[in-house]
Amino acid sequence: MNEASGRRDGGDTTHFGFQQVPVAEKKRRVGAVFDSVAQRYDLMNDVMSFGIHRVWKWLAIHLSHVRPGQRVLDLAAGTGDLSRRLARLVGEQGEVVAADINAAMLCRGRERLVDEGLVGNLRYVQADAERLPFPDDHFHCATMAFGLRNVTRKEAALRELYRVLRAGGQALVLEFSRPRLSLLSRAYDLYSFHVLPRMGKLIVDDADSYRYLAESIRMHPDQEALLAMFQAAGFARCGYLNFSAGIVALHRGYKL
Ligand SMILES: C[S@@+](CC[C@H](N)C(=O)[O-])C[C@H]1O[C@@H](n2cnc3c(N)ncnc32)[C@H](O)[C@@H]1O
Repeated sequence: MNEASGRRDGGDTTHFGFQQVPVAEKKRRVGAVFDSVAQRYDLMNDVMSFGIHRVWKWLAIHLSHVRPGQRVLDLAAGTGDLSRRLARLVGEQGEVVAADINAAMLCRGRERLVDEGLVGNLRYVQADAERLPFPDDHFHCATMAFGLRNVTRKEAALRELYRVLRAGGQALVLEFSRPRLSLLSRAYDLYSFHVLPRMGKLIVDDADSYRYLAESIRMHPDQEALLAMFQAAGFARCGYLNFSAGIVALHRGYKL
C-alpha cells in the first residue's frame, strides 16, 4: 500500500482527512492542527474520550513489559502521556526519548513532565517519524500512540521504527481503528462527526482540527491492514489487541 497513492498535476497527493492534498501540504496542515490544539490537547482528550484514553494508554504501557535500565523511544510523544509512564518504568538507569515533529506539542509535554519532577532520564527530540535521527539497533522498545494516523508515509515510519530497535525489541502502536459492532459503529459516527467538532469549537475554539480527527480515523488502515503493514516493515510475531470493541487497537511487532 502506498500512502502517496493519488497523482494530479503538480505531483503526488495524499489524504488529509477526507480531502486529497499534495504530499508536501499534508505535513504543513497536520502541523497546523497540533499547533492549534497543543495548549488544550490534554483537557480535550479527557473530555472527548470521557477519560478512557488513560485506560488505553495504561494498557499499552502495561503490555510493553518495559524494565528498569532500558532505552525506550516514545514516537509522536506529543504532550508526553506515554513518556511519563515509561520514564517511571525505566528508572534512573534507563532513558526515554520523547520524539515528535511538532515543537508546540513537545514543549507542552516537557513543561508538564518537568512540573511533575520527571527529569534526568527523559530526552526531547524534534523529529519526523519518516526519518528518525537515531542509530540502528538502539532502543529496547518503541511506542507510538495516536501518531501514525497523522504520518504521510506510514510504511516509512514503520520501517524507521524497525530500524532503530535492537534485536529482540518491540514496537507498540496504539491507534484508532475499526469498531467491531455495527450498532456501536453508527453511534460512534454520529458522535465523531457531529459532537466532536462542536466540542472542539467550545474548548479550543477550533472545530476543523476535530473534524480532521474524525476523518483521519476513517482514513486510517483497519486492524488487518495495519497488521500487514507491520509484517511488510519486517516485524515478526505481529499481532494486535482491540480495546473498546475496536475503537482503538494496539499493534505489536518484534525485531528478531
Ligand atoms: C494525537 S497526538 C498523540 C500524542 C501522544 N502520543 C498521546 O497519545 O497523547 C499525535 C502527535 O503526532 C505527532 N506527529 C504527527 N506527524 C508526525 C510525524 N511525521 N513525525 C512525528 N510526530 C508526528 C503530532 O505532532 C502530535 O503530537
